[in-house]
Amino acid sequence: MLMASKLTPTIITRLILPSCLLIFLYSSLLPFYTAPNSRSSDSKNQILAPPQCKLFKGRWVFDPNHKPMYNSTCPFHRNSWNCIKNQRENMGRINSWKWVPEQCDLNRIDPARFLDLMRNKNIGFVGDSLNENFLVSFLCILRVADADAKKWKRKGAWRGAYFPKFNVTVAYHRAVLLAKYEWEPQESELSDKDGVRGTYRVDIDIPADDWANIADFYDVLVFNTGHWWGYDKFPKEKPLVFFKGGKPIHPLEMLDGFKVVVESMVAHIEKAFPKKTLKFWRLQSPRHFHGGDWNQNGSCLFDNPLEELQLDLWFDPSNNGVNKEARQLNHLIESALKGTSIRTLDLTHMSEFRADAHPAIWLGKKDAVSVWGQDCMHWCLPGVPDTWVDILTQLIGYSLETG
Ligand SMILES: *[C@@H]1O[C@H](CO)[C@@H](O)[C@H](O)[C@H]1NC(C)=O
Ligand SMILES: *[C@@H]1O[C@H](CO)[C@@H](O)[C@H](O)[C@H]1NC(C)=O
Ligand SMILES: *[C@@H]1O[C@H](CO)[C@@H](O)[C@H](O)[C@H]1NC(C)=O
Repeated sequence: MLMASKLTPTIITRLILPSCLLIFLYSSLLPFYTAPNSRSSDSKNQILAPPQCKLFKGRWVFDPNHKPMYNSTCPFHRNSWNCIKNQRENMGRINSWKWVPEQCDLNRIDPARFLDLMRNKNIGFVGDSLNENFLVSFLCILRVADADAKKWKRKGAWRGAYFPKFNVTVAYHRAVLLAKYEWEPQESELSDKDGVRGTYRVDIDIPADDWANIADFYDVLVFNTGHWWGYDKFPKEKPLVFFKGGKPIHPLEMLDGFKVVVESMVAHIEKAFPKKTLKFWRLQSPRHFHGGDWNQNGSCLFDNPLEELQLDLWFDPSNNGVNKEARQLNHLIESALKGTSIRTLDLTHMSEFRADAHPAIWLGKKDAVSVWGQDCMHWCLPGVPDTWVDILTQLIGYSLETG
């Protein structure tokens, strides 16, 4: 008895309170889950995902029944990523891996249902070629539901498509740094000084022209930048110099420049785009150069995804590997996005596994590898970006259904 009376308060806090909390949580969440069922047609439920669902954490499971939705004949392909046409080895195997999130189901996109949900709406991608890679996958998948899809290039878009059956436009605006930047050659007398041949002027508070006039056009936007922020693209002889309000700011190292530009572009998006626009920021797509960087014979001739235990070795910045920048940049992006209305699309971790899924030496051009090295940065299509599409569309579907 004595023991029991002593235990009672502990039992209450350990067992009864949590159960009450659980019951409360269930009862408050249940209407939330069931409401869409009663409101909308059965067909739309497939794209719902509970909000606390962690789509970004999980593992790749081999499933021979998993097949891509398009092939090398999709008219939106970019030649160097069209791995079936370029006869990359293992394309069947590459596309037989299925992403299985830890705590919830990832449904494959149903292109017709998704386009129906998006009727009279538009989706835009803004950023570098990794967002273009994402877009090409998206267009080829959506085209399955509308064979009359037409190329679309307006309002500064680099490439895109219009789906007439649904009155939907999906397009990509190329803006590799997001901010406006311009080459300014050095005056001839000074050209010898420090070997500097000119500078790239970056106006950190001005968006690149390519996406300066799209604020009212898109209902969903996916931003990214990161893959151009290196000394291979902007070496010491042609450095980036940063301006704000038209005035130069003190010189910044590459990562510091990246940080101020991302912060300033995030602030611009928050200010210039309507509240109702659904905004995502896609985190870095990891590269898989093995044995050297892209210009040092780095290679990615892998037959299988990496094991979970290998990931830190490849990508943790403290190991100083060739591909460390993805996680480095992600830290800066995530802190810039904190407290904003822009949602993070964290596709980094799931993609880190996929050393096997890049175009590598199968680039569709004879001398490409000797000139540019292997491509261990972009992704084969069909391939990993198809799973990015599943994730993005599930999140869009959930947001549109729940408002
Ligand atoms: C490729 O896909 C198209 C449909 O988009 C289909 O008509 C064609 O038969 C496919 N080709 C091959 C070789 O599978
Ligand atoms: C197509 O969608 C746009 C919005 O993107 C809308 O303004 C237009 O009225 C739609 N056209 C038709 C025929 O519904
Ligand atoms: C890359 O490989 C080629 C041919 O095997 C060789 O000539 C060259 O020195 C290598 N470059 C580097 C940076 O290792």
